[in-house]
Amino acid sequence: MDHFSYRDGVLHAEDVPLTAIAEAVGTPVYVYSRATLERHARVFREALADLDDPLVAYSVKANPNGALLAVLARQGLGADVVSSGELLRAVHAGIPADRIVFSGVGKTAEEMRIALEHGIYQFNLESEPEAEMLSTVASGMGKVANVAFRINPDVDAKTHAKISTGKAEDKFGIPYGNALSAYALAAQLPGLRIQGVDVHIGSQITELDPFEVAFFRLGEMIGALRAAGHAIETADLGGGLGVPYDPALPAPPLPADYGAMIARVTKDWNVRLLFEPGRVIAGNAGVLLTRVIRVKQGATQPFVIVDAAMNDLVRPAMYEAWHDIRAVRPRNDHFTASVVGPICETGDTFATARDMDAVEADDLIVFVTAGAYGANMATNYNSRPLVPEVLVSGDKWSVVRARPPIEALIAADHIPDWLE
Ligand code: LLP
Repeated sequence: MDHFSYRDGVLHAEDVPLTAIAEAVGTPVYVYSRATLERHARVFREALADLDDPLVAYSVKANPNGALLAVLARQGLGADVVSSGELLRAVHAGIPADRIVFSGVGKTAEEMRIALEHGIYQFNLESEPEAEMLSTVASGMGKVANVAFRINPDVDAKTHAKISTGKAEDKFGIPYGNALSAYALAAQLPGLRIQGVDVHIGSQITELDPFEVAFFRLGEMIGALRAAGHAIETADLGGGLGVPYDPALPAPPLPADYGAMIARVTKDWNVRLLFEPGRVIAGNAGVLLTRVIRVKQGATQPFVIVDAAMNDLVRPAMYEAWHDIRAVRPRNDHFTASVVGPICETGDTFATARDMDAVEADDLIVFVTAGAYGANMATNYNSRPLVPEVLVSGDKWSVVRARPPIEALIAADHIPDWLE
């Protein structure tokens, strides 16, 4: 559920008409709802109410805007980070380091040093060489790092291939069959303290089965690791729970169903459970607001050309993702059209032959469920300034990331003197 709704025929974010934001900030612009973010954090926490002191570490990569992180910090969430940049943004927004876990296959020695300095809760290691590097860095600082290995359970998450991470051939984690030897190695390394296990099988997962299979395998591994003498105190179950994008598809499981399955599968584990939800927290809390530049009649259908493009929201181009489209002031008429941006490639298409609200030049539309992996994946392609972001709370709103002037883009390039 979200807090975007029509009042007097105009789409609002909470109490603010999107027309007012478009007028003041210009388009395209991402608009987030604080009440929706808070609701998602609360629903996720409530779904885990039967567990003993779970740590919900919001996956910062979904949306790292400092204002959103500050909202989630106030909800008691921790952070799952994959770079020192994300770590520093999370800390800056008020997320305590003892609620931060660090994931990712390519942590550098410098990133490890920064995380150790802050005293994060756990490193999720993805290989033996990474374990050796972290031990060296920690020892050099006179510190000991709390670690888990991310274990690749060889499970098909049944999601888009580009965001599936738990199959044996994927780059993530250590192969299931190597886990015992990896833990044996880590136990010998002076800069590490083994704390737990970790798994993350993918993103936008819309069935509980793949999760359950992966968690069951992780439970068996906990038993094997304990039998080998390792103290396993935490189990990080990753993120990945999907959100509804296309209303024609079956709705993904609710957080409550996910939580009930986890309570059942993990009831004898005797660990602190960690979670890394991203999309399910931020996805429905944001829309991309864009203006129709013109409607052009193509050979087979109308093209709605909007001022947002694939550089602002890349998900349709990259993952064939569906984002629902709504007119901000519906004309109570529908048509079938393709919605495209101004960028010079055919992939710059948000929707093909979509039955949608009929629109005309200058109308505003939104792409919904754009709060996760939206603004954060934007680029300057076609020399378009990065898309700005607005946070709404009740009848208040603020720009939480401004649209940079084109002059900033130009000034960032350096033309060498020796060209003269
Ligand atoms: N934990 C780890 C280790 C991850 O790699 C991810 C996402 C998450 C947690 C959060 O997953 P979530 O709960 O958001 O599904 N750009 C893609 C999604 C990439 C997800 C990458 N990893 C998209 O737009 O669909």
